[in-house]
Amino acid sequence: MLFKKIAVSLLKKNKKTNYILKKVRVGKSILEDECFKKTVALSKKEINKSPSRSEIINFLMSLTDSENYLEIGVRNPKSNFLKIKCNNKYSVDPGLESEKNVADFAVTSDVFFELLEQNKLNKINSDIKFDVIFIDGLHLSFQVEKDILNSLKYIKDDGFIVLHDCNPPTEYHQRENYYYRNSPAGILWNGTTWKAFYKFRHYKSLKSICFDTDWGVGVFSRNDLPLFNHLDEMKNEFYEFDILDENRSKFLNLNSFDNWVKLIEKNRS
Ligand SMILES: C[S@@+](CC[C@H](N)C(=O)[O-])C[C@H]1O[C@@H](n2cnc3c(N)ncnc32)[C@H](O)[C@@H]1O
Repeated sequence: MLFKKIAVSLLKKNKKTNYILKKVRVGKSILEDECFKKTVALSKKEINKSPSRSEIINFLMSLTDSENYLEIGVRNPKSNFLKIKCNNKYSVDPGLESEKNVADFAVTSDVFFELLEQNKLNKINSDIKFDVIFIDGLHLSFQVEKDILNSLKYIKDDGFIVLHDCNPPTEYHQRENYYYRNSPAGILWNGTTWKAFYKFRHYKSLKSICFDTDWGVGVFSRNDLPLFNHLDEMKNEFYEFDILDENRSKFLNLNSFDNWVKLIEKNRS
């Protein structure tokens, strides 16, 4: 009798477990899920924004001597690198995402900066200063932080440090794992670059802005420029995505690139 009771209870439990697992596995159709639909809509909206990072970099470059440009993370140079107008252009990429690595320096950014500091690179010397450095390599905050700190040593006083992917539309776009694609963001990935950008917006000697296009193009400058600003107080000390989402305009200093260009042109005339 007792044996029968236990068997029935186990069977019931098993049935319930299978039912829950089935719900977890299948749930509603993922395409009907509100969160999925919202993420897809936000991805589309971001993809349709303009101008591109290349146009922004070229405009920033036009405000400088256009002497030296450095791109960290190049992948396919046709996407951005080749579009940049500058006398001397240099690229760094270990070639993780391309069959043929065409970068000038086929190493990680850490190795590149180490070799540069030791004056061991064949094309450039350690006294080089760049007008624009575009950081678009490994999109994880710890690496972006190192890239920013290293770039600060090699940027001209009136130069710009530019970061791609500072404005992830959803938490799925800012996941840490690049290889996890079974989410509403699919292959789209901004990583956690926003955390490094947000952190350095508190850096005393820097002013910054994030242009609201092309997944957020963050720009640092040492100078006072229209709309560029600085954050004094850290209000998201655990770097929570929800808190960014509620405050992204202020935390990232999100602005329209076209409006900013108008202000620059007005100041010029
Ligand atoms: C998003 S892609 C760059 C896209 C390009 N900048 C553009 O605008 O089209 C990122 C690239 O960073 C490279 N990468 C990954 N880790 C890196 C690292 N530690 N240092 C430099 N580049 C890295 C990858 O190999 C990949 O080619």
